[in-house]
Amino acid sequence: MIPYKDYQKENEIFSKKITNNIEEVIKLKSEYKHEKYIENFEKEFAEYNHSKYAIAVNSGTTALQIALKASGIKKDDEVILPAYTYISTALAVSNVGAKPGFIDIKKDTLTIDPEKIRVNVSNKTKAIIPVHIHGNPCDMEGILEVAKKYNLKIIEDASHAHGAEYSNKKVGNFGIGCFSCHTTKNLAGIGNSGLITTNDKRLYEIIKKMVEVKNNPDLNLSKRTPCKINAIQASILKAKLPYLDKIITRKRNNACSYIKNLPKYIEYQKEEKDSKHVYRDFVIITEKREKLANYLEQNGVETKIRYKTPLHLTGYYKYLGCKRGDFQVTEEICKKTLCLPISYSLSKKDIEYICSKIITNEL
Ligand SMILES: Cc1ncc(COP(=O)(O)O)c(C=O)c1O
Repeated sequence: MIPYKDYQKENEIFSKKITNNIEEVIKLKSEYKHEKYIENFEKEFAEYNHSKYAIAVNSGTTALQIALKASGIKKDDEVILPAYTYISTALAVSNVGAKPGFIDIKKDTLTIDPEKIRVNVSNKTKAIIPVHIHGNPCDMEGILEVAKKYNLKIIEDASHAHGAEYSNKKVGNFGIGCFSCHTTKNLAGIGNSGLITTNDKRLYEIIKKMVEVKNNPDLNLSKRTPCKINAIQASILKAKLPYLDKIITRKRNNACSYIKNLPKYIEYQKEEKDSKHVYRDFVIITEKREKLANYLEQNGVETKIRYKTPLHLTGYYKYLGCKRGDFQVTEEICKKTLCLPISYSLSKKDIEYICSKIITNEL
């Protein structure tokens, strides 16, 4: 069986380093030392990401919520985001009382379409959340242009995209960066955790106060949520971070093998020009996805369908009044995308086997 992602195999490579780090944390003698340990991990991630500051929190969803609050987003503001993403992106917006403004995606890259943002900005729109979906950086040139014109904040959902680049710049530096380090991601802890990046000292200081909740009298209490990462989780991520670029290279090589060996009629998610996709998922687009997924399963290959329901058609967001047909690319893509295994623990041979099965399924 080729699993979608074999956690044991992926973690095995780091197991000694992780165990050593956990032991080091267990032996720390004070909460001050735990805080320092986390601070060191934050500095390492900031350095990796070429960002001035990083703050580690308990999940990617929290990272987004904190970033929205720190940006001053409040009740009845509108925040633009793609209709094709994980529900957490939208939940972060509605959880702070703002209104999610869904926007359609581009058919080739599956990322938010800046042209469609442009025609949907209203005087209530205060921010855009570009989601670097499946690890693929958005068209940041187009997004920055609209954001500048309408004075909108940018909060990047880089949950899938640690290490991804657009125009030689790492994602998470185009606005406030929000990363998930959940087990399923490229930089993965065990269970939930996340990171926020910023290059703005003032924002960094606000966010630090919001997440640490010490007795700081100078910040409105309603803005504070104790949600720092715990030191054990930080120690797992700290063990893996020095190898993140190797993980990305392995995944990009696996993607190249897919592109080379898949039959030409199979479409796949394309990269934006001048960008570096980090392939949290390798996504193919096919009319016959259910049939293909079943066939692959019978042949020992586990696949994933990530986003079956476009967010504007979920029951939870009915109150926004969207209807079928509003975001046609997203609706079509949600019926056709299938994620193939691309873990860094897979070999070129595994990928070739999967491609050979896709070819025989079509014969
Ligand atoms: C695009 C996207 N945004 C946000 C999140 C939320 O991250 P977390 O699960 O760490 O809260 C996820 C999680 O899968 C995600 O896929």
